[in-house]
Amino acid sequence: MSLVITRSRSFVLQSNETLLEGLERTGHCVEYQCRSGYCGSCRTRINSGEVEYLSDPLAYIAQGEILPCCCVPVGTVSLDVGTEREYEQDAGELHAQSELGL
Ligand code: FES
Repeated sequence: MSLVITRSRSFVLQSNETLLEGLERTGHCVEYQCRSGYCGSCRTRINSGEVEYLSDPLAYIAQGEILPCCCVPVGTVSLDVGTEREYEQDAGELHAQSELGL
């Protein structure tokens, strides 16, 4: 059983899902295209913990990044991922700041 901690939520990954599928099921916003480790679209920052790849990914990832479409956590992981609502709030705050010239 793996616990996934994100910016504002936590959930347990189900045994039959990838990390990307678990993030989608719980309302998180993650870009994706191939869902197979080729394109790199799902590249995500990992704050702590480790993941195991189901097959070796071909997309480039830097240290501190993972491809959630093709991995599962090994134990508890903390990710820099938010929900769509959180990203909308962030965008709204940035827009308000730019309107004020900040
Ligand atoms: S969606 Fe393409 S590498 Fe994850």
